Amino acid sequence: MVRSMKTMKRALAVSTAIVASGTLATADQMPPETSLSGLEYELIGRGDIYSYGSLDSYNQAPMLDALVESGALPPVNERLPAEPIIFKSGAMVDGIGEYGGVFRHVIGGRPEGWNWMAGQHQGWGGINMAMQECLVRQGPRWQVKAEEQTGPLPNLAQSWTWNVDSTELTVNLMQGVKWSDGDDFDVEDVRFWYEDNVQDENVASRMAKDSFGAANFEVIDDYTFKFVFQSPQAETIVENLAYIQGCPGPSHILKDAHPTYNSDATYDSYTQALPNDVVPPVVLGAWVPVVHRPDELVIMRRNPYYFKVDEAGNQLPYFNEMHFRLSTWGDRTAQAVAGTGDFSNMEDPGNYVEALKQSQDENSPVRANFGPRVLSWRLMLNLDPASAEDDTDRAMRDLFRETDFRLALSHALDRDAIGQALARGPFAYPYVAGFSTGSPYYDAGSSDFQPFDQDRANALLDGLGATDTDGDGVRNLPGGGENIVITVLHDGGANADRKQAEAVASQLEEVGIRMNLRSLDQTTMDTNRTSGQYQALFARLPVILPTREVCETFPAGANCPFFNRGGNRLPFEAELASAYDAFVASSDAAEQAELAKQMQRLMTENAYYIGTVQIPAALLVNKRIRNAHPGTPVFMYEWAEDSVIRERLWTPAAEQEEEVLPGTVAEY
Ligand code: GLA
Ligand code: CA
Repeated sequence: MVRSMKTMKRALAVSTAIVASGTLATADQMPPETSLSGLEYELIGRGDIYSYGSLDSYNQAPMLDALVESGALPPVNERLPAEPIIFKSGAMVDGIGEYGGVFRHVIGGRPEGWNWMAGQHQGWGGINMAMQECLVRQGPRWQVKAEEQTGPLPNLAQSWTWNVDSTELTVNLMQGVKWSDGDDFDVEDVRFWYEDNVQDENVASRMAKDSFGAANFEVIDDYTFKFVFQSPQAETIVENLAYIQGCPGPSHILKDAHPTYNSDATYDSYTQALPNDVVPPVVLGAWVPVVHRPDELVIMRRNPYYFKVDEAGNQLPYFNEMHFRLSTWGDRTAQAVAGTGDFSNMEDPGNYVEALKQSQDENSPVRANFGPRVLSWRLMLNLDPASAEDDTDRAMRDLFRETDFRLALSHALDRDAIGQALARGPFAYPYVAGFSTGSPYYDAGSSDFQPFDQDRANALLDGLGATDTDGDGVRNLPGGGENIVITVLHDGGANADRKQAEAVASQLEEVGIRMNLRSLDQTTMDTNRTSGQYQALFARLPVILPTREVCETFPAGANCPFFNRGGNRLPFEAELASAYDAFVASSDAAEQAELAKQMQRLMTENAYYIGTVQIPAALLVNKRIRNAHPGTPVFMYEWAEDSVIRERLWTPAAEQEEEVLPGTVAEY
């Protein structure tokens, strides 16, 4: 069965028989959109990708033979669980692989530290995901046929069941999985992740306290536990347990550093417990960082305890080594096009025309594929009055809480001009708020569009009493307060972000609103964004699924979203929260599509945040990489690094890059 992205969308969002309560009668509609997506692929069953089972015998990468012989490592069958995950040959476009070689990444991020449980990132661009394994998996779902889109794919959580009331989720973990230092992975690792990180509000975990249905955790035995929810839930909520939210860390290492278990520890020392200059960290992922040269390179080597195999019993991954050159995001695309890097999510429209021209050449080392529009940018105004820094900041946030203020800013933006400033051509499409057009949950009819209209923006601002009382060209806070100068943080290292933030600033200036742009590095931005420490922030934040990076967008639980952390909800936000809760508690696709429309309407009509544009991205993969399915989207259920399933990628021996550290495994 071959389907295009559009057909998949239709299949997922079954909505015909339903009264469209999300539809807007009189509002401005989104302009017509033309898709650039050329993705076509075969859809398969969930179990066609991988399953669990035992095989008669197992093989390992030849480089491990000597280590087993010398007794440094146990034999492969003792390192693997009794029932490893088995990747099916039928779903591999080039079949079973050859061991060895290097997969070369280039990234713009820098590893903050290895303690992902406390919210630290490892530099993005696929390095986080190479180390972390999560309870369930979302990336490969892009290839699953509609009738089997019943929820996330299993991973460390091998299976799960609901009680009749749907208030209790019992999870069976894989048995016999080991950490990269040989320690057993078991229920204590999961309990520690949830109780001492997620539900401990002093830890800045990626999943916010109570955002997972405010569930309680009950241990049943070494490999079984239960989430007990406050109200009935459904399969959808289990999606929250995928990357980046549901990935346990090594409790046997981290407990000693956590204040609950060590009276000498502080929450700050806990966050810093696994500094980026100490290698190797203990992981469950397919590769382990063994070298980190700051601003230069991270080298990862295969994890000899990795719990996945192919159908011939070969322990995965196939690649012995992974490189993450620490450069810029623009260089990631440049190196992929030049063939000195193996992979890029091409996501800076400034590079599109040239990169595409080069990759079209038949001698080009790289293959490029455009997907649907999934990358979107937005200006977020902090709506939490409680965390204001002083009286002026507080008065600003009170103004931000006025729907007319946010709508005025939205009408002040000329989104076509912003798009053309990024790249000439048909790449950009306006974004206001809510789901991106590439999302299966997007509905144009439920999107209230705010067209470029400075008169309307001015009238709305005048209506709020925010006039320029001192005649210096900048509007003042209502009641003759100070000039409205919004401090906006943005990532100075991301070209597309910087260009747009500058365009937004000059367009808002035309309606008397001044932006004070502050450029930060990616790590500081990330920390400020997820802790809600800013007055306003401009960032790229895609919205495809309601269950991924939930707190960036949705009011799930009292601590979300990050731009309104205090639980001081606006009236429409309370409605949005109910629609959100109903969405994750539903297992009926038609009902979910309807709830998604409601969310789309509420977010766009109230300009929950102010979107600029959305664009497609192209996935670039070097031609010597095998098993990279040509249909892999840059971003859908997860980023392409997860969707392309790197543990089963390989390169024929004759085309392999030479390893920098042949023979090395992480030593503890
Ligand atoms: C960064 C990059 C994305 C993707 C993700 C993976 O955000 O910009 O293209 O690689 O990291 O986490
Ligand atoms: Ca003024």
